[in-house]
Order: sequence, then C-alpha cells, then structure tokens
Amino acid sequence: MMIKIENLYRTFHHDDNEVPVLKNINLNIKEGECIVLKGVSGSGKTTLLSLIAGLDKPSSGKVLIDGEPISKLPDLFASELRAKKIGMIFQHFNLFEHLTVHENVTIPLIPSGLKMKEIQKKVDRALSLAHISHKKEIQAGRLSGGEQQRTAIARALVADPDIILCDEPTANLDRDNSLLFIESIKELNRLGKTIVIATHDPLFEHLDFKSTIIPMADGKIVSSYDDE
Ligand SMILES: Nc1ncnc2c1ncn2[C@@H]1O[C@H](COP(=O)(O)OP(=O)(O)O)[C@@H](O)[C@H]1O
Ligand SMILES: [Mg+2]
Repeated sequence: MMIKIENLYRTFHHDDNEVPVLKNINLNIKEGECIVLKGVSGSGKTTLLSLIAGLDKPSSGKVLIDGEPISKLPDLFASELRAKKIGMIFQHFNLFEHLTVHENVTIPLIPSGLKMKEIQKKVDRALSLAHISHKKEIQAGRLSGGEQQRTAIARALVADPDIILCDEPTANLDRDNSLLFIESIKELNRLGKTIVIATHDPLFEHLDFKSTIIPMADGKIVSSYDDE
C-alpha cells in the first residue's frame, strides 16, 4: 500500500476545549491511485493532508508511507521521507515571487547533494512536464495564476516523488486553467504517480480518468471506502 491510514485521530486544543478535527480515519491508497477528498470547508481535508505529509502529528493512530510510519518519525526523518516521496501543491501556489520559475523549481533539489548538471536535467524535465519551460526565466510574481500553478506542479515533481498531494489546487484558478490543471494531474497519474487531491471544486467530480471520490464531513469519511 502506498499510503495506509489507520485509526487516525487529530484533536486540537482551544483554551480548555478539546476540538476533535479528525475522528477515526481509515484509508488505504494503492500505488497509482487518484483519490479526491471531497468535503466542505472545515471538514478536515487540510488536516488530513498535513498528517499524510508528516507536517503534523496525529493525536492517535498512524500514517504509513510505503510501509514507513511517517506519523511516528521524529520531524527530521519525517522531512527526509517527505522530500524523497511526496510532492505538494497548494491553493496559494506558495512560490517565492522574486525568484524565477527556474529558481523556484530548483529549490527542492538544493539539499539533495546532486551535481549541478544532474539538477539542471531534473529541473528541465519537471518544467517540461508541467508545460512551463517557456517561462523559466520569468519571476514567479509576474506570472498569471495558471502559470504560477504550473510552476508549483513542476516544483512538486522535480524530486520525482511517488506521491503528489494537492490542497484545493484550483481554488484560485479560472475554469480554463482548472481544466488544464486536471489535464496535468491526468498525465501525472498516467506516469504512475499516486495522487491525493483535497477539494470542494465540482470539476473533480467528473474526471475522465479513473479516480475515487472519498467524501469527508465533520472529520470523518462519509461512505465506507472499499479497499478489497
Ligand atoms: N492548527 C489548528 N488549531 C486549531 N484548530 C484547527 C487547526 N487546524 C485546523 N483546525 C480546525 O479543524 C477543522 C478542519 O480544518 P481543515 O482541516 O482546515 O478543514 P478543510 O481543509 O476541510 O477546510 C476546522 O474547524 C479548523 O478550524
Ligand atoms: Mg483546507
């Protein structure tokens, strides 16, 4: 199983109150699957993605990435595992606006210790896969929303992760760019990437490639998800 989520709970503490945000999430995601976590704002999607990425720790339960318990690893090791296996795409693109497209996409490879030539090769490949090569010398802040999200796709891909996590990736895109984004996801899925998209965008309800919609509400998965 590429991603295995077992009895996952996340509770936040507000003053004296305990606020349960994820309540017993169980989910198995196989290599090459495309999963759409669908739910209204506040249903716990971002919290779940953060736990899968090892950016946050559960209150109880666990997350395994390719057999490794990312949720139990010390932060340094969780970051290492994330850098190796997971690429992330966000609603607000999260680019360095004053750096060029090329520089933004290079950043994740800086700690890799790879030779400059090898880094160039990987960056060029990611830019090309994300259809943004023609803008590589432009500052990210000068791009359109669609181009910024394509840059973010290239950045998520550059280290060749097995898993791509997307949090409301089309929330700041118009319809045409949202459809282009979906085409990119389809391409990545065809390349064998395992993809998890948290969204409430109805465009993801009618994808023309195989995907599984997992409805979330109030910190739970609504329907039972059949993992055979
Ligand atoms: N760091 C945090 N501290 C306290 N409450 C949080 C925190 N993160 C999320 N929450 C709460 O958890 C609930 C789910 O949030 P979130 O995972 O962002 O949902 P979604 O992404 O589906 O909109 C919300 O009620 C939110 O206020
Ligand atoms: Mg969210």
